[in-house]
Amino acid sequence: MPVRHFLTLNDFSTDELYDVLDHASKLKRDWRAGNVRDSLKNRVLAMIFEKSSTRTRVSFEAGMAQLGGSALFLSPRDTQLGRGEPIEDSSRVISSMADAVMIRTFDHQTVTRFASVANCPVINALTDDYHPCQLLADMQTFREHRGDIRGATVTWVGDGNNMCNSYVNAAQQFGFQLRIACPPGYEPDRQLLESAGDRVAVFNDPHEAARDSHLLVTDVWASMGQEDEQTTRARTFASYQINPDLMAMAHPDAIFMHCLPAHRGEEISEHMLEHPASVVWDEAENRLHAQKALLEFLILGELE
Ligand code: CP
Ligand code: NVA
Repeated sequence: MPVRHFLTLNDFSTDELYDVLDHASKLKRDWRAGNVRDSLKNRVLAMIFEKSSTRTRVSFEAGMAQLGGSALFLSPRDTQLGRGEPIEDSSRVISSMADAVMIRTFDHQTVTRFASVANCPVINALTDDYHPCQLLADMQTFREHRGDIRGATVTWVGDGNNMCNSYVNAAQQFGFQLRIACPPGYEPDRQLLESAGDRVAVFNDPHEAARDSHLLVTDVWASMGQEDEQTTRARTFASYQINPDLMAMAHPDAIFMHCLPAHRGEEISEHMLEHPASVVWDEAENRLHAQKALLEFLILGELE
């Protein structure tokens, strides 16, 4: 059996994604019931972080511990990766000792190159182009609050960034309509949009895009690595804020998500995280459950 990786949502079939989400909710119930699980006993996850993280690091590390395994935190500052050892050489060595590798980095090519020679599963924990682990948590959260997302309308407000690209993948895999409201010039990858066909539509007016939508979702205006553009982007994106007025345009049952960290007063208004429609804290916690399911699927090759 060839080694499976999770670099974008498209590495899994729709059925596999649903299996992972079902399993994530089961693991969550079991964990809350206090049941001990050691499905990944003696297994090791290597975690390579070339960018900062709170949720991703804690959820992967806690997740491995809760399943009886362990996790190694590797930063380029303390490894030979930061001193120019080729990615492929690093991959051969790390993947010969670990049972799975998780990478957060800049260039998406880094994870594809790493995976191309890895002897164990590789997980994309965010690149400049995609953030598929967050989408597992988001899809789990929508299901737990509102049921199947198939046929729903989802509105992305803000930058056509890594999260937005992963929402484009999700629209195709999970069968929802995605509206993207962004300033001209900040659309997601053109080829990706073309491949999504009618599933995705781009708007410039966030109010039009939010009308009757079932989920409003946003992210920071300047992602990691774009710190120099923060001031310009703050001006360009000023009218692309999710706030109670925009939320009022959506369907009465609509929910609001944000992958976090959030910038209050920028992409969301001051109290948006506490808005009755907000499910952001469940969304954040679901990173843990969704990734535990993902780790079992990739390392064990099955879900029980
Ligand atoms: N949402 C997310 O990936 O958060 P971190 O950057 O804290 O990991
Ligand atoms: N788009 C953001 C997501 C952070 C979780 C970034 O890449 O910084």
